Amino acid sequence: MQRRGRFITLEGGEGVGKSTNLAWIVEHLEARGLEVVCTREPGGTPRAEAIRGLLIDPAADEPLDDDAELLLVFAARAQHLARVVRPALARGAWVVCDRFTDATFAYQGGGRGIPAARIAELETFVQQGLAPDLTLLLDMPMAAAQRRLEGRLERSGGQRDRFERERGEFFEAVRHAYLARAAAEPERIAVVDAERALDEVQAELGRLLDAHLEAS
Ligand code: TMP
Repeated sequence: MQRRGRFITLEGGEGVGKSTNLAWIVEHLEARGLEVVCTREPGGTPRAEAIRGLLIDPAADEPLDDDAELLLVFAARAQHLARVVRPALARGAWVVCDRFTDATFAYQGGGRGIPAARIAELETFVQQGLAPDLTLLLDMPMAAAQRRLEGRLERSGGQRDRFERERGEFFEAVRHAYLARAAAEPERIAVVDAERALDEVQAELGRLLDAHLEAS
């Protein structure tokens, strides 16, 4: 029987450098001869991307209820898992996903204050035991991440999305929840200090990925 592929997720708050490092991770794995599927949450399929639009649209005329937000995140996830992630893993590809359920525990749990037990119920319902094999958590102090986010928005002329408009306490709570999950699951979640120079961050990402590759 063909070996199931590996499921790698990349996590972190806003402005920690996920996009740059995601592209680097994909190249690193492809250079080792692996088939890599690069995807993201919320999103990854046309319908799941439409749900992403509902989640990040800052339209102020109708606030989004916290429970509705949580259910939309998991609706997008169900679609993405069924259409992209499970088929790719089944054929032996490595899936590299920009955010997954750790983000739900961090944003909807830590940020919005939804109890973790409630999120865990949906996690069981939607994922039926599927979990990342390795999660790379890019971490840096909130103030540094916010400065980077502001720099990026200035350069691109972009607007803040619905999450990026949250206040400092929200992002502190998100970071705290991510670090608490990493402390509870150190075997799966590697915390990478993302405040260092990019080449140092990528050297560490490479070591973590290669160690995982050797072990699998
Ligand atoms: P991105 O801009 O990093 O791609 O992510 C879009 C936003 O979605 C980001 O602010 C975090 C948020 N998000 C959640 O709130 N819960 C989730 O489960 C996921 C995957 C993302």
